[in-house]
Amino acid sequence: MAESGKKRIVLGISGGVAAYKAAELVRLFRKAGIDVQVVMTDAACGFITPTTLQALAGRPVFTDMWDARIADNMAHIELSRGADAIVVAPATADFIAKIAHGLADDLLSTLCLARECPLLVAPAMNRQMWENKATQRNIAQLAHDEVSILGPASGDQACGEIGMGRMLEAQQIFDEVSSFLQPRLLTGKRILITAGPTFEAIDPVRGITNRSSGKMGYAIARAALDAGAQVTLISGPTSLAHVPSAGMEHVESANDMFVAVKKHAKSTDIFIAVAAVADYRVEKTSTQKIKKTDSSLTLRLVPNPDILAWVAALPKAPFCVGFAAESQNLLENADAKRRRKKIPLIVANLAQNAIGADDNELTLLDDSGTHTLTRAPKPVLARQLVAHIAKLYKSRKA
Ligand code: CTP
Repeated sequence: MAESGKKRIVLGISGGVAAYKAAELVRLFRKAGIDVQVVMTDAACGFITPTTLQALAGRPVFTDMWDARIADNMAHIELSRGADAIVVAPATADFIAKIAHGLADDLLSTLCLARECPLLVAPAMNRQMWENKATQRNIAQLAHDEVSILGPASGDQACGEIGMGRMLEAQQIFDEVSSFLQPRLLTGKRILITAGPTFEAIDPVRGITNRSSGKMGYAIARAALDAGAQVTLISGPTSLAHVPSAGMEHVESANDMFVAVKKHAKSTDIFIAVAAVADYRVEKTSTQKIKKTDSSLTLRLVPNPDILAWVAALPKAPFCVGFAAESQNLLENADAKRRRKKIPLIVANLAQNAIGADDNELTLLDDSGTHTLTRAPKPVLARQLVAHIAKLYKSRKA
């Protein structure tokens, strides 16, 4: 049994070349503190050995229905008891066909049939097998039976062909499964997030911007989606990929961001202002490219609207969360900002640690004091922050 609070999954491996990726997947789960019980089909053992997976998972691997290591000989029930999910990766066309029809002629298919937990499968097969009507019928049946289908992807295949049917990479499967395992703390809540820098044009080719990458705001959007929220992400210019399932609006300047936020603010429950909004913009943007001369050039800057302060001052303001990136006197400056903007929670971080980095360290300041989130990758911090926001939001509502 898993320690209380610790997630536990059964990783089923069926017989396809992509079985080699299962080794990396086990490593990723273990690294994230998730217990993994590996179960393999006979065919899978032809591609990768149980010994490798046992070493990575840190527990015995099971392949046989009649394994005497299970005291009551009920491996098909015992192994998934208490599991948070069964993940089959790779799931071959044959294995998918079996579970679509409720067949149970080996340990893994029997575990799938006898499960009490959700089932996720990552198909892996040659492109003709994937496109075959029988496979598509089976996949549709699994989706109808509320089995989650992860992938497949398109690309080079072991058979030398190119097309749909390649198993997702281990990291992608890990990301999808860990999203799936998140507690749904914000089900039904509408969350509005600003992220990234803004760009204040000087002329058609130049502008003022900052080093914000948008990584934290995008990670919070993903974490909020995983927590069951409906997310709108208003993003300044970044090089990040679209967040699937979020309503996205791309903006450039602080004024554009303000217009987009005003459109959504009144119908949101929680507003998280992560964007590094330029405090000033050029008073008069030149419509033509400014030409170089020998004399100095003065740009007059005027203040931008404070988006967060505007939202926080609405008569029925959503629960507002601000960010403070400071280069010195972190807590004093952040606390002053929280009071000035009249918001319940501010997230303080050192600008020199945060901007553009993949990791960060955060201090949360609210009415109950300070709370530190120690250095971790931004997606991990985003989940912890979303959990803290959900807790504060619920206690306010109560
Ligand atoms: N913010 C905003 N609109 C602005 C400026 C900032 O919504 N025009 C939000 C940011 O998204 C962040 C918080 O306000 O949540 C940051 O507060 P702010 O006082 O603007 O921080 P700095 O710009 O860092 O202020 P200063 O330069 O004075 O430190």
